[in-house]
Amino acid sequence: MAKLTVLDLKAKKGPGSLVMVTAYDYPTARIAQEAGVDLILVGDSLGMVVLGYDSTVPVTMEEMLHHVKAARRGAPETFLIADMPFLSFATPEAALENAGRFLKEGGADAVKLEGGLEVVPVVEALVRAGIPVLGHVGLTPQTASSLGGYRVQGKDAESARRIVEGARALEAAGVWGVVLEMVPTPLARRVTEELTVPTIGIGAGPVTDGQVLVFHDLVGIFDRFKPKFVKRYAEAGALMREAVAAYAREVREGVFPDEAHSFGMREEILKKVYG
Ligand code: KIV
Ligand code: NA
Repeated sequence: MAKLTVLDLKAKKGPGSLVMVTAYDYPTARIAQEAGVDLILVGDSLGMVVLGYDSTVPVTMEEMLHHVKAARRGAPETFLIADMPFLSFATPEAALENAGRFLKEGGADAVKLEGGLEVVPVVEALVRAGIPVLGHVGLTPQTASSLGGYRVQGKDAESARRIVEGARALEAAGVWGVVLEMVPTPLARRVTEELTVPTIGIGAGPVTDGQVLVFHDLVGIFDRFKPKFVKRYAEAGALMREAVAAYAREVREGVFPDEAHSFGMREEILKKVYG
């Protein structure tokens, strides 16, 4: 499958048109590419599911770049999006510098950043410079504290209006798509109908043009908590735990390594050395 272009992406309208998954390193990106997803997001969710932070706030540019480079090596043929970490896009200048690093050093095809109306000047600067941008409204984890925690957004008129206006402003500023996170399905439907660029939902129902899930959530290797919108397609965490426990048991019982996993040599060589 040929890598999608930004022009291709802009035309992906209708539920089921885009499949995105996060990946943070060589093996997970490789798995995602082999599974045939359309888009890989190196999300700052890595702060929680890979680095063990309590939120995405502490994630740095250096940490993101480290993972973007690894994921790119694992999925050279897949459109790859780098997530701009907290405060890396506080000004248009900072955003240009940091997004530029993701494309030039990390090999990313696009960047994603959180926010609506308030990030329009930043999005405009990036798009003007030729950097493809994916927007992200609804629950924005970097500012979750101000939003009252990890909870559904857009349930009251003021919050819903903020999402609608944010999505419209992002499209006008030139994004090629918008992530809708933890938004009621009826609102996600209206936003999706209105925008000409695709919406990519997570906790936004079946109505968005695309879907995204966090890799570690969908394969079951992050068990600190499970949001309602997560579907676990495997229990890979349990499988990995069983594998490590079996290894430990076999080492202790002298079962591993056996001959099949060891190297032999000619007896006379050993005699020459030891006499
Ligand atoms: O960081 C991330 O994984 C994300 C997606 C959940 C959209 O921003
Ligand atoms: Na993110």
